[in-house]
Amino acid sequence: MHRMSEMKITTEDATHPLVEMTHVEKHFGDLHVLKDINLKVAKGEVLVVVGPSGSGKSTMCRTINRLETIDSGDIRIDGRPLPQEGKELARLRAEVGMVFQSFNLFANKTILQNVTLAPMRVRHMSQKEAEDQAMDLLRRVGVDTQASKMPSQLSGGQQQRVAIARALAMQPKVMLFDEPTSALDPEMVNEVLDVMIELAHEGMTMICVTHEMGFARRAADRIVFMADGRILEQASPDEFFDNPQTERAKDFLSKILTH
Ligand SMILES: Nc1ncnc2c1ncn2[C@@H]1O[C@H](COP(=O)(O)OP(=O)(O)O)[C@@H](O)[C@H]1O
Ligand SMILES: [Mg+2]
Repeated sequence: MHRMSEMKITTEDATHPLVEMTHVEKHFGDLHVLKDINLKVAKGEVLVVVGPSGSGKSTMCRTINRLETIDSGDIRIDGRPLPQEGKELARLRAEVGMVFQSFNLFANKTILQNVTLAPMRVRHMSQKEAEDQAMDLLRRVGVDTQASKMPSQLSGGQQQRVAIARALAMQPKVMLFDEPTSALDPEMVNEVLDVMIELAHEGMTMICVTHEMGFARRAADRIVFMADGRILEQASPDEFFDNPQTERAKDFLSKILTH
């Protein structure tokens, strides 16, 4: 009897999605930005979200770690509904790492401090523990030699890799990337994408909004195409790029792939 209930729990753990959005609706005033969003992301899955500007990609990401509230519907992380506020919300934010277009590093802290601060405050790590972890992460993203510098002394590509290390330092269950390479000079794009590809290979669950279609083809398990606040297509990279189903997706791809 005891054993059976344990087995049931194991099965459920293995099958529930890490991120699950059900019938999510969101308005900004009169503007209907998210329309009946239904999305499941499995543990270890790499999702790439593409679509025209203004289609709601950033807003969707921001609802997942509750930087934006939703009007109706349901969002679950690892089976648990999004908390409204307080300690629970802080814990959720710790479980969902986010990397934005602008690097958002703390300008008056060193690179090392940028990566140790939140784990010490939120995860209550000792300074030693947080610094050891930070140096490991900075080494992984290739900027450990910059640890004692200030953010402004680093290139954009280096800063964005620090931002990734900082998010990873909270040991998140899922990482959200919102156009992480859009603000970078072209020669720095690949050094950031390479870190993301490595992370994907290591089994991190990732939701990436990006216009880097080469990355999407190589790294994505699934492409989600959004337009006008709706998810219009979800398909494997090969299916999506070689055989888009909707006129909107065909139009989008013709514009983005011809140059
Ligand atoms: N805080 C906000 N207040 C009002 N409108 C917003 C806000 N954020 C985004 N929008 C609008 O919502 C729509 C979707 O924006 P966004 O999610 O940023 O799209 P995308 O990331 O796909 O470009 C756009 O029309 C945008 O102007
Ligand atoms: Mg956006």
